[in-house]
Amino acid sequence: MACRQQYLLLLQLTPLIWLALAAAAAAASGAKSDCPQSCGNNVSIPFPFGIGDECHIGEPWFNLSCNDSFNPAKPFWGDLEILNISLQGQLTFSSPVAKDCYNRSGETEGYDVSIELDDDAPFTLSSTRTIFAAIGCDSQAYIYPFIDRNDATGCLSTCQGMGMVENKSCSGIGCCQASIPSGVKNLVMRVRSFYNHSKVLDFNPCSYAFLIDKDHFEFSVDDLSVNTRYERDEPVQVVLDWTIANQTCETARRDAKTFACKSENSLCNDTDHGYRCYCRGGYRGNPYLNGGDGCVGMISTNAMKMSTVAEKKYVKTQMEVITASAALTNLWHI
Ligand SMILES: *[C@@H]1O[C@H](CO)[C@@H](O)[C@H](O)[C@H]1NC(C)=O
Ligand SMILES: *[C@@H]1O[C@H](CO)[C@@H](O)[C@H](O)[C@H]1NC(C)=O
Ligand SMILES: *[C@@H]1O[C@H](CO)[C@@H](O)[C@H](O)[C@H]1NC(C)=O
Ligand SMILES: *[C@@H]1O[C@H](CO)[C@@H](O)[C@H](O)[C@H]1NC(C)=O
Ligand SMILES: *[C@@H]1O[C@H](CO)[C@@H](O)[C@H](O)[C@H]1NC(C)=O
Ligand SMILES: *[C@@H]1O[C@H](CO)[C@@H](O)[C@H](O)[C@H]1NC(C)=O
Ligand SMILES: *[C@@H]1O[C@H](CO)[C@@H](O)[C@H](O)[C@H]1NC(C)=O
Ligand SMILES: *[C@@H]1O[C@H](CO)[C@@H](O)[C@H](O)[C@H]1NC(C)=O
Ligand SMILES: *[C@@H]1O[C@H](CO)[C@@H](O)[C@H](O)[C@H]1NC(C)=O
Repeated sequence: MACRQQYLLLLQLTPLIWLALAAAAAAASGAKSDCPQSCGNNVSIPFPFGIGDECHIGEPWFNLSCNDSFNPAKPFWGDLEILNISLQGQLTFSSPVAKDCYNRSGETEGYDVSIELDDDAPFTLSSTRTIFAAIGCDSQAYIYPFIDRNDATGCLSTCQGMGMVENKSCSGIGCCQASIPSGVKNLVMRVRSFYNHSKVLDFNPCSYAFLIDKDHFEFSVDDLSVNTRYERDEPVQVVLDWTIANQTCETARRDAKTFACKSENSLCNDTDHGYRCYCRGGYRGNPYLNGGDGCVGMISTNAMKMSTVAEKKYVKTQMEVITASAALTNLWHI
């Protein structure tokens, strides 16, 4: 369906732009040929990730599954639902929210949430994109590592009334946030109250705590009241950083068979948690695949640039003609 639409779109465009789009489309798909390009209609699955045994790179943590009992189908990594994968090394997944709720009789609902990434996988929660946030007027929220519970971090949020609470302000009144350390693979999120929400029950029955993509988080005063997205247990988006293997480029390159930067036009980049591949300047596509599926030159863009230059020249020539004729006209009048 998606393919068909794209095809129709291409037909309506001029050949020059067609070239550019064709190159972009080849670059965007990114999956191994004969492998599913996407799961559902939203999430594309670029290699080294893949659905099915022949479609992903060797290690099992690049093996995703596509569950089509959902409509549209949804991709999963273990039991984490995948929302987006970028070849620049980010993966967005869906996470539940920890909560702690009260009514006049006491606690009504509460649970902790844990996130556990495979210990051997070179994936870590993104400390640049993901923050820890808590919402509530009687709230103490923690994250601590799965193993050593002494290493907790977190934040506190309180409010006496709604008067001081402001939209978009997450600095301890109704909402608080903390950054997470880099390199974290698994943790528990927990939120508790100081007074069972007894002093704030009229306007705030629940506390929530969650990791979230900071680009997708904006606190609203309404989040404190009832029937919020958090109360309805809607999941939030969390970003992790992935690398291809916990190795340096130099070490990885020694074994040409397993070295993942397969494209002739790819380069290797070291990060704190392993290496990644990327396309060298002027090339786009998937650095983890070779040949036409890999990094390809952006010829079409150059063609477009050339035509713009040509057009400018043409305009200039025309201007000169006009100026020349204007000068001539002036001459006439003398
Ligand atoms: C596709 O993604 C967009 C943006 O993330 C979302 O608003 C939309 O609901 C998604 N569509 C489907 C069918 O999942
Ligand atoms: C990949 O995942 C699928 C579905 O979860 C599973 O059936 C298959 O055995 C896995 N393959 C590998 C190589 O881990
Ligand atoms: C797909 O999701 C449904 C609903 O959550 C679940 O019951 C089923 O086991 C999943 N199928 C696979 C193959 O994981
Ligand atoms: C997926 O991530 C890419 C790059 O980070 C972004 O451009 C794109 O909009 C995202 N797609 C969705 C559906 O969120
Ligand atoms: C509080 O919630 C519990 C469980 O949901 C319910 O049984 C109880 O009646 C509620 N108490 C009040 C005062 O609303
Ligand atoms: C990478 O390996 C080093 C040393 O073996 C280890 O300390 C580190 O935690 C690993 N990092 C990841 C992301 O697996
Ligand atoms: C909170 O509730 C628990 C049990 O429901 C009770 O033991 C505790 O004393 C209460 N704390 C406060 C500060 O109200
Ligand atoms: C805060 O934002 C919400 C929408 O998210 C809006 O309904 C509400 O009126 C705003 N409140 C204030 C005090 O600006
Ligand atoms: C290489 O990795 C570093 C982080 O380790 C990043 O800042 C830089 O943008 C990367 N370069 C490329 C070309 O991806």
